[in-house]
Amino acid sequence: MIYTKIIGTGSYVPEKMMTNDDLKEFVDTSDEWIFSRTGIKERHIVTNEETIDLAEKAALLAMEDAGIDKSEIDIVLVATVTPDNFFPGVSQLLQARLGLNEVMAFDVNAACSGFLYVLNIADKMIKSGAYNTALIIGAETLTRLTDWRDRNTCVLFGDAAGAMIVTKSKENKIKDVICGSRGDTEDNLICKAVDIKDPAVNAASVQDHIHMNGSEVFKFATRIMPKTVTDLLERNNMELSDLDSIVAHQANARIISKAAKDLKFSMDKMFLNINHYGNTSAASVPLAIDQAIKSKFLKKGDKFITVAFGGGFTWGGALIEL
Ligand code: ACO
Repeated sequence: MIYTKIIGTGSYVPEKMMTNDDLKEFVDTSDEWIFSRTGIKERHIVTNEETIDLAEKAALLAMEDAGIDKSEIDIVLVATVTPDNFFPGVSQLLQARLGLNEVMAFDVNAACSGFLYVLNIADKMIKSGAYNTALIIGAETLTRLTDWRDRNTCVLFGDAAGAMIVTKSKENKIKDVICGSRGDTEDNLICKAVDIKDPAVNAASVQDHIHMNGSEVFKFATRIMPKTVTDLLERNNMELSDLDSIVAHQANARIISKAAKDLKFSMDKMFLNINHYGNTSAASVPLAIDQAIKSKFLKKGDKFITVAFGGGFTWGGALIEL
């Protein structure tokens, strides 16, 4: 039987930091409103870096952490909704930048759940016996899609990348990964791609921004995160008390605390770093896992669930032993 395990993680955020007070330059808001509604104090944003630049830095750190040679990587998967091009993808650019073998590389778009999707794909591909070692990444520059005049959305997002090396193992460490989607929710969270009607006549296009119905997203998130945790535990004959912690997508501290309350799980065991980074979409989960490991919030042997929701709507969860 082939199993899988995590052997290295890494993450990177751009240097420029923007506080809640800095946002007052763009929109009518306050530190008090943002922090009390979301738990966010500051976020990092790109200036001249692209998504590939963030992904490359996180990938190098994860490879160093894993202590592997680049020739051992035989799949590259990048979760992102902010690729630098329609094509080539961030994953293919990364294959070249890192000097990897000419391996399969592709991007996955599942918004903030994207990292759970690439983890699921890598896990199953390795368990099939066809591949050995995957470089998986969540990398986003969502601030490039943000309408900086819309206070409902621009206060929420930040830029980051997180990377992980997953490899085949004799021990069953990545125990289960599940993902789902419901596409009839587009009015609640959407950013259109090229929106040109009759392109031969109307060649010029304008980049769309993120549109969000915050309270509908909030309701969905607080329903799906506890459900995904419960589903994973049931599928694996485990109880909540068997878990050392939960590392949830960092979209809003209130969403995380409501999920913990509904699950009856201690907030002390929920990892939180949203105050420093905001919602970094697909980068949020691998950034959180990397920081949880490096800060010893997660220790070797710990059993934890990581869970996310996002545009699509999408969701995903994984039950992991470190
Ligand atoms: N500063 C000050 N006031 C604001 C701001 C702001 N930044 N934003 C909104 N307000 C105002 C609103 O205009 C509204 O005023 P009104 O009552 O006069 O109309 C008031 O504050 C209350 O707004 P609500 O939307 O009711 O605030 P709520 O408590 O629901 O919090 C929030 C809004 C934080 C967006 C919340 O709904 C939320 O977190 N939702 C989930 C968001 C999320 O996770 N999105 C994921 C998207 S990521 C992806 O997949 C790409």
